[in-house]
Amino acid sequence: MPDIPSTLKIHRDRCVDHLSHPVLATSLEAALQGALRLIDAFQTDVDITVKGTSNFVSSADLAAESAIVTTIREQFPKHAIISEESHSDRADAEHLWVIDPLDGTSNFLHGIPHFAVSIGYYERGAGKIGVVCNPITADWYVAVEKQGAWHNGQTMLVSRAGRLNQAMISCGFHYDRGKMMEATLATLADLFRADIHGIRRFGAAALDIANVACGQYEAFFEYLLSPWDYAAGAILLHEAGGRITDCSGGVLPLGTSSGVCATNGFLHQAMLEQLASHLQHLKSGDY
Ligand code: IPD
Ligand code: CA
Ligand code: CA
Repeated sequence: MPDIPSTLKIHRDRCVDHLSHPVLATSLEAALQGALRLIDAFQTDVDITVKGTSNFVSSADLAAESAIVTTIREQFPKHAIISEESHSDRADAEHLWVIDPLDGTSNFLHGIPHFAVSIGYYERGAGKIGVVCNPITADWYVAVEKQGAWHNGQTMLVSRAGRLNQAMISCGFHYDRGKMMEATLATLADLFRADIHGIRRFGAAALDIANVACGQYEAFFEYLLSPWDYAAGAILLHEAGGRITDCSGGVLPLGTSSGVCATNGFLHQAMLEQLASHLQHLKSGDY
């Protein structure tokens, strides 16, 4: 077992100082155990299996997931788990953990230090705790329902920009190289025409949503994500004052995949309007 890098521990403890919940300590310990496995494996040779076009699972994903699930199971053996590589329990369970052990696998495999462990804890579909941790930069984003969201001990608040021409927008590309890619590219062109400040695509949806919650981006969108990509981020963003929905403004599901529109709230309607025609074309097969 590796030593806990001191910054990782200090930043985690700074978040804990502001929050309390019976399940918080386990959430943080599980994220820490996952993070330590990722630190261990980063920039080493890991075994890779191809899941689909540009979509990989590595021995690091599996080691992190096993460490996270073991930590949760030790404390709460009866809780349900949805986890990217191994568990798919019921989304409406009384106690549910939604886990992405390594969000940003492509970055990880390319040696780019922008990836995260993401853990959301829900009770009968209601978000209670969100934890996103980038192990390499030692950034912790932690929220508890009705207690706010914290980034390394600093309170997280969305930006107040209310116009697209004030916005830095982040996006993600689903793994397909077909219609979803075309829809995303066409949306980016429209957003640039609306005079946004810029587009960022850093490659880890959980961190993208956390960065909206911190006020760095005004909005993030992606036309198809899985619950483990957004379960923790949704709680962070809600507690930071933002809004997150599917790409038509509907409630995000926990039991199935969905598009995601995450914003500071002020820009939500404008973003949904930008996405609407592309969503329509996607549905009618026009791309
Ligand atoms: C991926 C990342 C990426 C997003 C993909 C996700 P993974 O998650 O969040 O930014 O564009 O759609 O699948 O595969 O690295 O856990
Ligand atoms: Ca992911
Ligand atoms: Ca993943």
